[in-house]
Amino acid sequence: MKNILVTGGAGFIGSAFVRYMVNAYPHYTLVTFDKLTYAGNLDNLLPVKNASNHHFEQGDIADRESVQSVLEQHKIDTIVNFAAESHVDRSILEPEAFIRTDVFGVYTLLEVGRQVGIGRFVQVSTDEVYGDVHEGFSVETDSFLPNSPYAASKAGGEMMVRSYHVTYGMDTVITRGSNTYGPYQYPEKLVPFFITEAMDDKPLPLYGDGMQIRDWLYVDDHARGIDVALHKGKSGEAYNIAGEDLRHNIEVAKKMLSLLGKPESLLKHVPDREGHDRRYAMNADKLRGLGWERQMTFEEGLHNTVSWYKTNDWWWRKIKTGEYLDYYKKQYAARLAAAES
Ligand code: NAD
Ligand code: DAU
Repeated sequence: MKNILVTGGAGFIGSAFVRYMVNAYPHYTLVTFDKLTYAGNLDNLLPVKNASNHHFEQGDIADRESVQSVLEQHKIDTIVNFAAESHVDRSILEPEAFIRTDVFGVYTLLEVGRQVGIGRFVQVSTDEVYGDVHEGFSVETDSFLPNSPYAASKAGGEMMVRSYHVTYGMDTVITRGSNTYGPYQYPEKLVPFFITEAMDDKPLPLYGDGMQIRDWLYVDDHARGIDVALHKGKSGEAYNIAGEDLRHNIEVAKKMLSLLGKPESLLKHVPDREGHDRRYAMNADKLRGLGWERQMTFEEGLHNTVSWYKTNDWWWRKIKTGEYLDYYKKQYAARLAAAES
């Protein structure tokens, strides 16, 4: 392993992985390949701007020619695929882009990678493939029951990866991460959305009763988990990366308000997300068996995250314009109006 292509490396988790790997492995070359969709942001890579072992190339994982060109030009031997449409609410509004990137894009990377003869292929996936977990904790052999177009597209991507391992003998590893939070997360996801809206004293639209449960994982712990799976994972296997810290959404929202010194009256219960999964929960024993441990507690991680958004409003204020405002209107205008009436 020498030259690693990080697809989607200008997004939230991909950029954390790049920032970590560039310092942890100075003898590797990291090449970020990213389409720079609304969620891709070169500001996320500013900390590695001067790193001699990192390069950025703009491109689409669903475009065969661009993929082939970047693989050949940089003599890539390893791919870690973060590139995806990643937001559940957007997948409910407009599912097509999810199929294109999260299924067809994964296929394209696999197929071109196979033809060029790359080594390991790591697919970054999600706990959402297991669907709603009413009780207990998902293990890697559980069946898939995805409920949103996003979750279904990620499950489809995983199936392509599995098939390339079984059929062509490709060296593949899959990671399934739980709900991730931390600095540089696009402010449409619960944690950064609520922090940045609350900072401006805007209403926080809590879906339904707010009693849904998510399993929270700090972004640097997620990035290290992918590194462990990349280096130590067994070919053809999948590994859960779980915070194993389950919280109700309403508790998370109240903690953020308290850290910001803002009143709970900002919380507004709005009509629920369609097809909303009630609970995700995974068991991380398999990855722990390879030496991974979560390092950040939820309390510390949330404190760091709130502080980061408070001191880095240069980063998120410029995002909250244009396309972001169009999306906000489509997603929240009717829900907030319903909450008022
Ligand atoms: P993100 O939306 O912040 O970033 C996605 C990145 O992919 C962006 O930089 C975007 O420009 C790029 N991209 C999108 N389509 C592309 C295409 N066709 N070609 C090239 N680049 C493209 O997402 P994230 O939250 O960082 O998630 C990264 C990965 O981790 C995704 O695969 C997601 O499914 C998975 N995941 C996310 C979480 C989470 O809680 N955020 C949890 C588990 C797994
Ligand atoms: O579980 C892993 C997944 O976590 C990743 O695969 C996805 O890429 C990532 O987006 C995330 O999906 P969620 O749908 O769980 O995350 P989101 O931040 O959108 O929502 C978290 C919870 O908060 C969920 O139950 C919905 C709720 N929510 C979210 C928003 C944006 C609200 O109540 N109000 C909101 O405005």
